[in-house]
Amino acid sequence: MNDPMVHVVKHPLVQHKLTLARSKDTTTDNFRRLVREIAAMLAYEATRDLPTEEVEIVTPVAACRMPLLSGKKLCLVSILRAGNGMLDGMIDLLPNARVGHIGLYRDPDTLEPVEYYFKVPDDMAERLVIVVDPMLATGNSAAAALSRLKDAGATTLKLVNLLAAPEGLRTVRTAHPDVPMTLAAIDARLNDHGYIVPGLGDAGDRIFGTK
Ligand code: URA
Repeated sequence: MNDPMVHVVKHPLVQHKLTLARSKDTTTDNFRRLVREIAAMLAYEATRDLPTEEVEIVTPVAACRMPLLSGKKLCLVSILRAGNGMLDGMIDLLPNARVGHIGLYRDPDTLEPVEYYFKVPDDMAERLVIVVDPMLATGNSAAAALSRLKDAGATTLKLVNLLAAPEGLRTVRTAHPDVPMTLAAIDARLNDHGYIVPGLGDAGDRIFGTK
């Protein structure tokens, strides 16, 4: 993958924790903690181009000019429900970020995503919007969520996933070539049930212990 808009984070800590999360023997509490930790590291990578400005401060030793974050405010947007498992790790790192939620389900007849919940701050145009969803499978929900956020005024968006299938990656890159992506791995394929292979199973069920 040499698309400059797609950043796969190869850091050994991310890869180590992702391998532990993938294992079917990982318990719910450990899975949750691992997703939270990986999400924080992905947030660190996704925000590496945030602008800074120098401000005057005084340390106990001397006055100096040092960088602080400047520019757009942040909004994290979770695609329900599995996206919620990534929020806390990101908020640990970005405590001033606002948080929005989007709920989509797939219409059984048309197979198109249908919105059932949408709540984001009013001032989306003024924010860097980071959309989070652990699993980019077909990519249809993420692509629909990005379109909906653009309709709501967002102009600067990023997408953060744990895992992607090549199909999902293609869908999002085609529909939203302006949206940079940060993820921990691109897996081999989707199976006939829509699961990423080898993947990690159903992220929502594993985060919330519903199966
Ligand atoms: N959603 C999941 O939770 N897991 C997959 O493998 C695909 C979609």
